[in-house]
Amino acid sequence: MGKKILVTGGTGYIGSHTVVELINAHHEVVILDNLYNSGISVLDGIRDITGVKPEFHQIDLCDKERLDAFFAGRDDIDSVIHFAAYKAVGESAEKPLMYYHNNLNSTLNLLDAMIRHGISNIVFSSSCTVYGEPDKLPVDEQAPVKEPSSPYGNTKQVNEQMIRFTVEAGHPIRGISLRYFNPIGAHPSAKIGEAPQGIPNNLLPYITQTAFGIREKLKVFGNDYDTPDGTPIRDYINVVDLSKAHVVAIERLIDQKNKKGYEFFNIGTGRGHTVLEVIQAFERATGQKINHQIVARRPGDVEKVYADTTAANQELGWKAEKTLEETLLSAWNWEKAYRQNKNEQ
Ligand code: NAD
Ligand code: UD1
Repeated sequence: MGKKILVTGGTGYIGSHTVVELINAHHEVVILDNLYNSGISVLDGIRDITGVKPEFHQIDLCDKERLDAFFAGRDDIDSVIHFAAYKAVGESAEKPLMYYHNNLNSTLNLLDAMIRHGISNIVFSSSCTVYGEPDKLPVDEQAPVKEPSSPYGNTKQVNEQMIRFTVEAGHPIRGISLRYFNPIGAHPSAKIGEAPQGIPNNLLPYITQTAFGIREKLKVFGNDYDTPDGTPIRDYINVVDLSKAHVVAIERLIDQKNKKGYEFFNIGTGRGHTVLEVIQAFERATGQKINHQIVARRPGDVEKVYADTTAANQELGWKAEKTLEETLLSAWNWEKAYRQNKNEQ
């Protein structure tokens, strides 16, 4: 029997795109998600794109017994890509314990189950938030991990350390953390994409909802930063490109090419764009005007961060390929398809 890849959080935004790329690369996938922040209909989107509806289990990773029951008796899984987590930075500041509970216990239970059931490989979703406001740009993996600016960011740091120390303790686990910069966009088919609940916190869903008329105007948080137009700079990475990095990373572990046991890589484009540049690029790519207004800075925002991707390029052989414009267009096409689908339901 071929070995399967377990994808936790696989019905979520990045997880679902990664499931598609894993299937495209001829891997068998099992999804585990508690559907806290995603819907079961995502499985239909994956099936429409790939022709395969992956095996799915609705399980909360914090439920140690159910997780154990899931792994017991199945020897067909040898690798895990671990996306499942809460991810709203602002909410984590208001409800820190909820974030520590979910984001730490889930990984703890998972690592524990992996060791007991002989599963070796784990790719973990980390974030460039671990670098805080970097001293040097572009930021590479040698840059220090900074004091966390939110409980969410802290859970990413602790998760990375949990995996590293588990590997270093000599357990038969190999791990790679991928530090994502700002994932945006959707699958070009517009069958899957980002579907945030309520008012979006992130820039791109706010832009597409404003273009669609759901939000009246986009608030641009500050134009007095030390950047060419005064708005903050980020490295916006296409979600399909990002997903392909997971395929490469898990294959590196399966093929035992990571000699170090535990590694971490920046996953970005290497290019920084200001908020106003993103708005202009969106307008160019889609022909939609974005009503926007400059307002005060958002507390906790860093001024500029973009990736040095040399390690991912050279070690993983991975590189971001899509342009900002095609990525923004994919986000817009997804927003329209998603709204139409919702109306028809
Ligand atoms: P998402 O919310 O769309 O997906 C996460 C999925 O995990 C959801 O389907 C949710 O239902 C599930 N989940 C949460 N807690 C669970 C639990 N205890 N048990 C089982 N399932 C659980 O988020 P996303 O944007 O796809 O992010 C995926 C991962 O990438 C997260 O770890 C996130 O922190 C990380 N990340 C995301 C971004 C980003 O901008 N989206 C940036 C950096 C890192
Ligand atoms: C945030 C988190 C990061 C997390 C990521 C994904 C912080 C400091 N960082 O990144 O840890 O991994 O979300 O959840 O919170 N913007 C506006 N108007 C808006 C929304 C955003 O101007 O309505 C601006 C922000 O000021 C920022 C840029 O757009 O300059 C991107 O913001 P966002 O999409 O929220 O991502 P980050 O803040 O970079």
